[in-house]
Amino acid sequence: MSEPLKGLEGVVVTASAISSIDGQAGTLRYRGYDIADLAHKATYEEVAYLLWFGDLPTAEQLAAFTADLAAEREIHEGVWELILTLPCWPVPMEALRTAISALSSCDPEANDDSRPANLRKAMRLTAKLPTIVAYYFRHSRGRERVRPDPGLGHAANFLYMLNGERPSALQVGAMNMALVLMAEHGLNASTFAARITASTLSDLYSAITTAIGTLKGPLHGGANQRAMEMLLEIGDPERAEAYIEAALAQKKRIMGFGHRVYKTMDPRARALREVVCDLDSRLEDPRWCRLALKVMEIMEERKGIYPNVDFFTAPLLYTLGIPLDLFTPIFALSRVAGWAAHVIEQYGDNRLIRPLSRYAGPEPRPYRPLVERG
Ligand code: COA
Repeated sequence: MSEPLKGLEGVVVTASAISSIDGQAGTLRYRGYDIADLAHKATYEEVAYLLWFGDLPTAEQLAAFTADLAAEREIHEGVWELILTLPCWPVPMEALRTAISALSSCDPEANDDSRPANLRKAMRLTAKLPTIVAYYFRHSRGRERVRPDPGLGHAANFLYMLNGERPSALQVGAMNMALVLMAEHGLNASTFAARITASTLSDLYSAITTAIGTLKGPLHGGANQRAMEMLLEIGDPERAEAYIEAALAQKKRIMGFGHRVYKTMDPRARALREVVCDLDSRLEDPRWCRLALKVMEIMEERKGIYPNVDFFTAPLLYTLGIPLDLFTPIFALSRVAGWAAHVIEQYGDNRLIRPLSRYAGPEPRPYRPLVERG
């Protein structure tokens, strides 16, 4: 038996038509479209449509899709009550994980595995995730829920439900860009986890619940919150060098840096960097752009490691006034479009995903009765 490949690094386990990454060139395409183009020009709704149906929508298709998505935002009251009864104040990611699992019980098509039903479920999940995150956030701060506004687009409605006031065009543009950039990324850990669940022919809700649990880890989606905690701790570009040196000396990982696939700057980080610096320049006390660029420069010099999507998502969300514990849930409410696209693709040409492990335990030995074991 061949030696195990820890972390499946470089192993191709499936063919997929959803996105392509060139780790050397630092490019990412959703269904052939360059991410920089989509980030600057497309809405999240267009991107979700593209990921699920394989092509950008016409104006008529987009209008119908946007209206259908907006109509699905409200969550069943029973699911909300369930979240309210969760003991011991779970963090938002834990509440989201439980809520998604619970949503399936209210979906009459939960176990219909036809492609049309799965597309409708993908739509419902994508519509409801922002509602769950916003409701839970307001509840955790002792505020009334703000009901979704079907007249607002996906990004605008989410900001509205969080803050209870209409966001500016600048805020909507920044949030939309972040959602577009986080929506899909090939066979990352959470997407792979979702495809494994789908490969057993389990349902879409189970696959998305699996993905959320996987995204939560600090080496994956949890890195954006940790990256902002680090930037807040450093506080000033003057302190960046000493901070990074000390962290590297202690063999600590610098959150928001490094990538299994990109060997150059993550193209999503490149697009986000511009928006972060633009938003920051409008603040009374601009500091995040300068600080982030300084940390980036030090990491490149010291380790030859580049920022990934999480590094610049962090100050972007922070300057939009979003609390840190919502950073990873926001990653989830964007990535759900990519997860669903992959799960549907997996069902379309399924084979159970079942690798092997090389046994590394004790040699065969006889069972000893309890009395003989002392
Ligand atoms: N900070 C400091 N050093 C890092 C690093 C980071 N963020 N990421 C990688 N490295 C270093 C490792 O220490 C290792 O150095 P060494 O060879 O001197 O021991 C080398 O780079 C290779 O790291 P490795 O762990 O083998 O790379 P990987 O492909 O397994 O890791 C990540 C990819 C994403 C898990 C890793 O870069 C990481 O932990 N990043 C921080 C978390 C993060 O931002 N995650 C979001 C990813 S989108």
